[in-house]
Amino acid sequence: MTRPISEVASTGRFLPDRVLTNEDWTRMVDTTEQWIVERTGIHERRVASSCTSVCDMGVAAAEQALERAGVGAGDVDLLLVSTATPDRLLPSTACDIQARLGANKAAAMDISAACTGYLYILALAEGYIASGMGEVVLVVSTEKMTSIMDWEDRSTAVLFGDGAGASVIRRATGDRGILANDIRSDGKLADLLQRPGGGALRPFDDSVLADRSHLLLMEGREVFKNAVRAMSRSSRLAIRQAGWTADEVDLLIPHQANIRIIEATARYARVPMEKVYVNVHRYGNISSATVPVALDEALEQGRIGPGSNVLLVAFGAGLTWGATALRV
Ligand code: ACO
Repeated sequence: MTRPISEVASTGRFLPDRVLTNEDWTRMVDTTEQWIVERTGIHERRVASSCTSVCDMGVAAAEQALERAGVGAGDVDLLLVSTATPDRLLPSTACDIQARLGANKAAAMDISAACTGYLYILALAEGYIASGMGEVVLVVSTEKMTSIMDWEDRSTAVLFGDGAGASVIRRATGDRGILANDIRSDGKLADLLQRPGGGALRPFDDSVLADRSHLLLMEGREVFKNAVRAMSRSSRLAIRQAGWTADEVDLLIPHQANIRIIEATARYARVPMEKVYVNVHRYGNISSATVPVALDEALEQGRIGPGSNVLLVAFGAGLTWGATALRV
C-alpha cells in the first residue's frame, strides 16, 4: 500500500447567508426555472454582500479549519490561496488572509488555476511538505464569482455563487492522507473561458467597460465536453495511482459546475451516483471552493470518516484539471 506524505488534517467552510433562487433569476433575465434545473441541476446559489470580501470568506473558512486541527495560525509554514476573484490585483489575497489570521511565520501566495485551484494547492502543499521546507500548510479556496460574472448574460450568470473552503495539510503519521495527485493544463484552450479585459494586455478603460470584457466569457458547450473528457481521464488515473479499483472509491467529490457533467464524469470513472457527493443544487458553481466545501459537508454529514477512500476531481479555466485520491 502507498504510504502518504501528507494528510488533510481538517476542513472548514463559509457560505454567505443570502440565497438567490432560480425564481429570482426569472425576474432578472429571460430564463425559466425549468431551463436552469434541466440544463444545470442548480436550484439556488449563495451571494456575498458588497461588504463581504474574498478575504473575509477565506478567513472564516480558515479559522474553522485551524480550530478543528488544533493548530494555531502562528504554526502555519505556508498559506496557499486559490481564487479566480482576488479582492485586488496586487498584492495577493493570501497576504490579506495571512495578516487577518496572524499567521506570522507563513509564506503566503495566491494560485490561479480557476475551478481546479483546490486540487492545485493540495498538490503544492504535498510537494512543500515532501521537500522538508515546512510541516503545516493552510490551503484556502475563496471565491466571489458574483463579482466577475455578467449579470445580464443569462448563459453564464445563473451558474455561479460565492463561498470558501479551507484545509490544514500536515505531514502524515499513518496510512491516512493524499495517495495520488494528477494535475494538468492545456493553455491552447484558454479562450474557452476567460476575462480578457482589464489585465495588462488590455488595461481597464472605457472600451473595456463598454464591451464588458472585464467579465466572465464562456463557450459553455465546448467547456462542457472538455470537462467531462478531462475529469474522467484524471479520475481513472488517480484511482490507478492510488492502487485502488473504482469499486474501492467510497465517495467521489467532483467539482460542482453542472449535474450533467457530474453524472457523465461518474459514469466514465465507473463510480455509481450513490457514491457521488452532490450539492450543486444548493450552491451552483463556486469555482475552486466547490470541492473543499463539499469535502467539509461530507465529513460533517458522516458520509465519509476515518479510513474512507475519497476521490476529488475538478476542472476549470486555463484549461486546468486534476484528481486527488485521498484516505481521510
Ligand atoms: N435560460 C434559458 N435559455 C438559455 C439560458 C438560460 N439561462 N442560457 C442559455 N440559454 C439558451 C441559449 O441561448 C441557447 O438558445 P438557442 O438554441 O436559441 O441558441 C440554448 O439555451 C442552448 O444553449 P447551450 O449553451 O447550447 O446550452 P447547454 O445545454 O450547453 O447548457 C451550459 C449551457 C449550462 C452553460 C452548459 O454548456 C455548461 O454547463 N457548460 C459548462 C460550464 C462550466 O462548467 N463552466 C465552468 C467551468 S469552471 C471555471 O473555471 C469557472
